[in-house]
Amino acid sequence: METRNLLYLTPPHTQPVLLSDIRAAGWNAQVTENPDEARVMINSERFHVGLALFDSTNNIDFLGENLISTGGPMKWIALLPPSQMQNEDISQMIQENFYDYHTLPADSKRLLPILGHAYGMASIPHKPLIQGDEYPGEDEMVGASPAMLALFSNLRKISGVDAPVLITGESGTGKELGATAIHERSSRSGGPFVAVNCGALPPNLIQSELFGYEKGAFTGAAQRKIGHIEAAAGGTIFLDEIGDLPMDMQVNLLRFLQEKTIERVGGTEHINVDVRVIAATHVDLETAVKEGRFREDLYYRLHVLDLKMPALRDRQGDIELLARFFFKKFAAEKCRNVQGFTREAIRIMSDHDWPGNVRELINRIRRAMVMCENRLITPADLGLERRASGRHMLTLDEVRSTAEREAIQTALRRTHKNVSKAAQELGVSRVTLYRLMEKCGLHHAHGMM
Ligand SMILES: Nc1ncnc2c1ncn2[C@@H]1O[C@H](COP(=O)(O)OP(=O)(O)OP(=O)(O)O)[C@@H](O)[C@H]1O
Ligand SMILES: [Mg+2]
Repeated sequence: METRNLLYLTPPHTQPVLLSDIRAAGWNAQVTENPDEARVMINSERFHVGLALFDSTNNIDFLGENLISTGGPMKWIALLPPSQMQNEDISQMIQENFYDYHTLPADSKRLLPILGHAYGMASIPHKPLIQGDEYPGEDEMVGASPAMLALFSNLRKISGVDAPVLITGESGTGKELGATAIHERSSRSGGPFVAVNCGALPPNLIQSELFGYEKGAFTGAAQRKIGHIEAAAGGTIFLDEIGDLPMDMQVNLLRFLQEKTIERVGGTEHINVDVRVIAATHVDLETAVKEGRFREDLYYRLHVLDLKMPALRDRQGDIELLARFFFKKFAAEKCRNVQGFTREAIRIMSDHDWPGNVRELINRIRRAMVMCENRLITPADLGLERRASGRHMLTLDEVRSTAEREAIQTALRRTHKNVSKAAQELGVSRVTLYRLMEKCGLHHAHGMM
């Protein structure tokens, strides 16, 4: 039978009640009165049940911020004086976050069955960790850096008017997401949003794809076909990779922007179409204009408003935010026990250059969530080991943590993963060892060696 692990959290200087009964019933119970320690322990080892003892003061700080709602499948049980159930904050918190509660005086005949049930519930394979709607929905843009706050403000202004927009930015910075956001916040949000990748259309088809054709316009044109621009009537057309548009098509697009009418291929009629144009490019159009590859007049027509998507490396503060956002998003898809990132992983992500920007971040996190064998994602899982990146020499700090990691691994191996014995060997307290294990991304419960 699997070891049943229990974490017993008490207020400062308070004896854990019924501890010997709990241990006698076969529980591996560990006691702490420090919520930070508790958090480290939960991240390092699989606890099935948490037991939180309340005293008769109304102080619930000892629980630590968000501690009870983290810890994945772990079930928490409150042990409290009956008077505390009258306290609204406490009773509400218990309702929302606890599996069950037990009012004092302590009675092992009542408590032990509750622990048993909680263990049963905690052992059911579960879908990890999506908590509430901390983050906005599917197509929302995440960011809190000054660069993104400025961008959001521009985006709002741009959404309020109807002029063409040119979105620029490196690959993977969110140009398409930006275009969608403008459309959705604009008065056209009830109309269609049609995206066309100008770089992906064969040159001989672009004209008819964009403008449509009449029946009999060419061999094979058995029916009239509406083009993308007309299909976007009342809404927005997103012309992605506009820099790839051939010269002759640039003329036609310019005419449409000036006259707001189109002509289907093989047709003679000028059809009024009410469409907002948003274009995007990852190449520098000004250079393309100078080199004669892009029409200057079209450039100015498209460039009435512009939105510059910042590179991820220029919005450092957003990296951790985005990493956690996508982690949660993918955690909902996968049934894995990965619970977050090591501190080292967060640090290395903040230092990385991100040539592929947000798209690269998404791919690395996806990969890490598949590759990760422990509870926390390490730099190696992300494919971002400092030594491999070759960006700089090892710092003293890195040498120290490598040595630390190796010593801990050796001690754990020698003691068959008995954390208390390994801590003794290493001359540190058990809690310190837990903390170091977390720092190094080593985790007791999941065979990290
Ligand atoms: N700020 C953001 N918040 C959340 N997701 C984002 C953000 N920026 C980009 N993304 C996501 O990153 C991915 C790449 O974004 P998008 O396709 O819009 O980039 P792009 O600039 O059009 O890239 P490319 O030039 O390669 O076409 C998408 O999955 C998008 O949802
Ligand atoms: Mg794109």
